[in-house]
Amino acid sequence: MCGIIGYIGFRDSKEVLLKGLKKIQYRGYDSMGLVIATEQGFKRIRSVGDVRQLRNKVAKQGSCSGSWGLGHSRWATHGAPSEENAHPHKAEHIYVVHNGIIENAEELKAWLKGPFLSETDSEVVAHCLLDSYKQKGSLKGAIFDTISKIKGEYAIAVMSEKYPNELFAFKKGPSLLVGLGEKEIFLSSDVQVFLPYTKKVVFLQDGEVAHVEGENEVSFYSEGGEKIEKRITALDAKAEETDKEGYPYYMLKEIYEQPDCVLNVIGEHIKKQDVEININKGSGILDQVIRQKRLNIVACGSSYYAALYGKYVIERFSRVFVEVDMASEFRYRSPILADQVPVLLISQSGETADTLAVMKMFQELSLPVLSLCNVMHSSLDRGASAHMYMLAGVEKGVASTKAFTSTLVTLFLLALALGKKNGQLGGSEKEQLINSLLSLPDQMEKILARTQEYVDAAHLVRALKSFIYLGRDIYYPLALEGALKMKELTYRHAAAYPAGEMKHGPLALVDENMAIVGLTPQSHVYKKTLGNLEEARSRKGKLILIGTEGDKVASSLSEYFLSIPACNEYLSSILCVLPLQLMAYHTACALGHNVDQPRNLAKSVTVE
Ligand code: AGP
Repeated sequence: MCGIIGYIGFRDSKEVLLKGLKKIQYRGYDSMGLVIATEQGFKRIRSVGDVRQLRNKVAKQGSCSGSWGLGHSRWATHGAPSEENAHPHKAEHIYVVHNGIIENAEELKAWLKGPFLSETDSEVVAHCLLDSYKQKGSLKGAIFDTISKIKGEYAIAVMSEKYPNELFAFKKGPSLLVGLGEKEIFLSSDVQVFLPYTKKVVFLQDGEVAHVEGENEVSFYSEGGEKIEKRITALDAKAEETDKEGYPYYMLKEIYEQPDCVLNVIGEHIKKQDVEININKGSGILDQVIRQKRLNIVACGSSYYAALYGKYVIERFSRVFVEVDMASEFRYRSPILADQVPVLLISQSGETADTLAVMKMFQELSLPVLSLCNVMHSSLDRGASAHMYMLAGVEKGVASTKAFTSTLVTLFLLALALGKKNGQLGGSEKEQLINSLLSLPDQMEKILARTQEYVDAAHLVRALKSFIYLGRDIYYPLALEGALKMKELTYRHAAAYPAGEMKHGPLALVDENMAIVGLTPQSHVYKKTLGNLEEARSRKGKLILIGTEGDKVASSLSEYFLSIPACNEYLSSILCVLPLQLMAYHTACALGHNVDQPRNLAKSVTVE
């Protein structure tokens, strides 16, 4: 989960690279680096931390202008976050930036001469290229030779002091795009880097090589070395110029954008007060789900928790059987892939390696893949056979918020659409559910207006070291998401359980040092859940309950009671996510953490 950039063109490459790194630092911010071809020769500058630290370091170097270079944002996989391990890595005249993992790096190191100055697998690529160059006599030949030697997943860009005004790029796995501007060419992991300059892009496929010669010429080669023609795509995405707009962190801004995101999803899938799911290029896939009476949903992290919510609502309203899997488990457990049963892959970034690997499994079996992602033209969006979008706008905070909520609402509407299509959901119930949904944005605004409650709760919570999140039925996936937010942002231990599971073991964890966050809105499982929470309370656990406003019983049990407006239980579970997000956010702030860039994490997990 690193980000790579290359540039050749008429602009000051230092600025292009630094601005580009800011756009992709969500992919990794342990360390950053760039190399620029200046009149005085190649200048490589690297620093730990994010793009601000790198920019400060570049400024101290004095003049550093040139028309071509490489940039990299790193999330450490091999070797600690340090300047020595930061990219670009070099071997004599060859410089590389790399996203991915070279699985046979240690074997390669055994016969390469080195010297190796870092602990990374990426530096081995530079030495492998140098070794091949000395044998083949050309950098292009060296690249094809290196491709035949390295194993793993990689997106790599290369430049050399012996090849002025040339860049090379090759990949297997993580995305690598070529942006074609007027008198300038870009290499990047992410369209956002070059969208401000051009919308013309070539998507490099696995095994292919791009060779940029100057600011106007790029040629492409297949793995076998034959020159090939590549289609140029005109992107319809817009440059998402995002800034914090006065918020202290992107995450808080994105939390407050959620009512608008829900309105986007409603606008996309509700026409004339009725549900009409809008699937781009593949609406027939829902008929296939109905025919097969089955749907697989596969995802990671928060997207997986949203998928669990999807199981509850889809089975409840359509009686279609839903199997939900974590992508990292699904791809290795020899799953039984029933013929023609569609899979829905959910991914905010559309670049999660494990989820993309599942897409590849289904593609190889010619099974239908429906995607739900937030980034148009991402690898998942391009690879699926039918497409839905979260419509949440760019999500910069590593801890997902608005994309998660948009996914829940999309799955809620997908459930109604399937129930409507197969006759399992009666007209009046469907209307009531849609009317409840139409009130959701206003109800979210009410919760978001009560910031002080969460700031106050945070001052209680920050003293607590361990958390149990409990929910039953439709609230259990939200308990999982709440625990993840608390973990990601405060670095404190937080585990979620179905409330009914407490007596089967987790209750042993409860004492006066344990915070129990319970999801107890009015619902068909309200009384049972409250009973479980009272059992925890009788063992001195500190209850923080999220419940329906006016609920005096729940409120009397809790140290802190965070209320949500009364509404249909399938939607009150969605409303619960706001207090869960805000409590984790304010607690992290009270602890002085960098909320947008939590330690050890990155926004897009593009490696296994
Ligand atoms: C969520 O807050 C985390 N950042 C993480 O679990 C994330 O949801 C997961 O990595 C999946 O990402 P994706 O939706 O982009 O595939």
